[in-house]
Amino acid sequence: MANKFFLHGADYNPEQWIKYKDTVWKEDMLRAKEAGINELNVGIFAWSFLEPEDGVYDFSWLDEVMDMLHENGMKAILATPSGARPPWLAEKYPSVLRMDKERKPHVFGGRHNGCVSSPDFQRKVLEINTRLAQRYANHPALYMWHVSNEYNNDCHCPRCQKAFQEWLRARYGTIDNLNDSWWNTFWSHRFTSFEQVESPTTPSWLGECESPNHNLAWRRFCSDNLIKFFQMECEPLRKYTPHIPITTNLMQTFPGIDYFAQGRVMDVSSWDNYPQWRGDERDVDISYDASFKHDLMRGVGGQKPFLMMESCPGAVNWGGVNTLPPPGTVLYQGLQAIAHGSDSVQYFQFRAGRGGSEQFHGSVLPPDGSADTRAFREVTEVSSALEKLQPACGSVTRNQIALVYDWPNRWALDYAWMAHRGNQKYEDTVRAHHTALVSAGYGVDMIDQLCDLTPYKAVIAPMVYLLRDGFAERLTRFAENGGLVYLTYLSGYVNEESLRHVTTPPLEALTGVRTDEIDAYDQGHENSFLWQSKAWPIKEMAQLSTPRGAQVLATYQQQFYQGQPVLTRNTVGSGVCYTLQARVDTDCLTAVLGDLLRQHGVTPLMENLPHGVIATARYGEEGEEFLFLLNSNREDVTVALNGAYTWLGSGEEAQGEIILKAFTVNGFVKK
Ligand code: GLA
Ligand code: ZN
Repeated sequence: MANKFFLHGADYNPEQWIKYKDTVWKEDMLRAKEAGINELNVGIFAWSFLEPEDGVYDFSWLDEVMDMLHENGMKAILATPSGARPPWLAEKYPSVLRMDKERKPHVFGGRHNGCVSSPDFQRKVLEINTRLAQRYANHPALYMWHVSNEYNNDCHCPRCQKAFQEWLRARYGTIDNLNDSWWNTFWSHRFTSFEQVESPTTPSWLGECESPNHNLAWRRFCSDNLIKFFQMECEPLRKYTPHIPITTNLMQTFPGIDYFAQGRVMDVSSWDNYPQWRGDERDVDISYDASFKHDLMRGVGGQKPFLMMESCPGAVNWGGVNTLPPPGTVLYQGLQAIAHGSDSVQYFQFRAGRGGSEQFHGSVLPPDGSADTRAFREVTEVSSALEKLQPACGSVTRNQIALVYDWPNRWALDYAWMAHRGNQKYEDTVRAHHTALVSAGYGVDMIDQLCDLTPYKAVIAPMVYLLRDGFAERLTRFAENGGLVYLTYLSGYVNEESLRHVTTPPLEALTGVRTDEIDAYDQGHENSFLWQSKAWPIKEMAQLSTPRGAQVLATYQQQFYQGQPVLTRNTVGSGVCYTLQARVDTDCLTAVLGDLLRQHGVTPLMENLPHGVIATARYGEEGEEFLFLLNSNREDVTVALNGAYTWLGSGEEAQGEIILKAFTVNGFVKK
């Protein structure tokens, strides 16, 4: 869905202020307009006000809020309330409470802790969602649905066990097939019925927790189960408001849900962005990290414009040390989202509550509603900046490089008993590759193993340990058709079920290399290799391999495998497959990937970017080319533009060498 205007909004909980509504609600509207806020997220966690008693509904206050938003020219992203439950629900229907891994039932409290397999919970959620959808279907303020809030985590109650067993039956068909898929003859664990299978436990002595295959199946089930619940929540919304798009706010690399699978069943991707800016040179890495997460969250939404549903206009309150973001942060953080394809800048929260655990969390307004604050001024500044960038609204990215981040692969690596067991650093490794690509001037699309590869010139796939069905074949075809494939150590070790291969591993023909052994390094362990006449250190992991047709570009300089390949190149049809056999730092990845991509004719958005500068591009429907240059350094830098541009907003010309001010996001349109 392409927005017509950038959303500038926040989570808004007027129900917390219902006893002050005559003053506070009015002031909220005034302040929102003063700050240039055009949208508010309402209804999140409002269940006890929408249904104060079982079956007794009261929408009058929400009617008023929706009307008030409309009258004040604002849109509502309306939430379904399942993110937190009222006490009466837990009292009357205890099945809505979760059970943890130790098999201990929870008591009422907290928020995202319900059991999504509970028929009572499902029924009550369906009912309230239906009423919300029916009631607001034609309300002019209704802009989008915000389903629940940050879905997360598992439940181990008897109903979830049963749901797991049904899921297993559907996946494996027979118990014999499950046993084979999990290698259950090991330790005499062959099940004779699906009813014998339980979720993994904690502590480890309580039951099963070690089988990688069993653990992987549980992770897949929990993800599917939450997504199924999300889809159930969407049913009445789709039925009564087919014209209103649906989102749910995601949490970047959160391991509990396969966000690509989730993205495939929702209309717009949105996420909550909480970088811990520090006001010094550490912000360079924080900025690279936020770029990675924006790209990932755009990726799970199929590369369409996404929303930054939450960000903090001040300091958060949940950290151990809640450092104040220095002046200018709200603007940088907001426009960084836009630069990466977001069509919104939104905050948590509009007005902070007087009490509750988030009473001191950063907000647009303090509880007293004062506008004479740094946060308010900075939010207002974002409004003017968004106006200037308005032509870029709805535009899309079009990157040549795909970087693979895959949830089932991540889960399999988390449970892999080998190398750095429990700490294989998949996420860190993909992030390091992202930073390297961005540092080399490239725009990056994040994809998973199921995404279409054909729009790309290069597929960078670090640590694809678990190969999902068909991925090896699709990668091979991609290379044969002229693409560049880049793989690393720990690739292709196991199949979809996390079983090792019984025949030649499926990536061997593509890489032209046989994988032999993997060496894990502790701190004293050293190695290096030469590239561009420089010795680059190797850290943490080194894979030993034998060429099977590939050309060796670099070799290990130390250890007993000195002289064996580190970097290999295999010609595949009209394309190529490179394999890097060891873990290296980001600078090394920047040098190596930059060289390989350039040799293959993949051109960066910008050449010779200074450290800490990021370039992104968005493309409009009328052929407009927008360029964003982010300088996360605390000092000005000079960059050289390739071509003639206009600064968005001022309309000034930009050509050749230009100065990017310290900690700024700069938008341009190509002439
Ligand atoms: C999350 C939640 C919000 C709020 C913020 C605080 O993102 O979705 O409700 O708790 O964190 O940072
Ligand atoms: Zn449960």
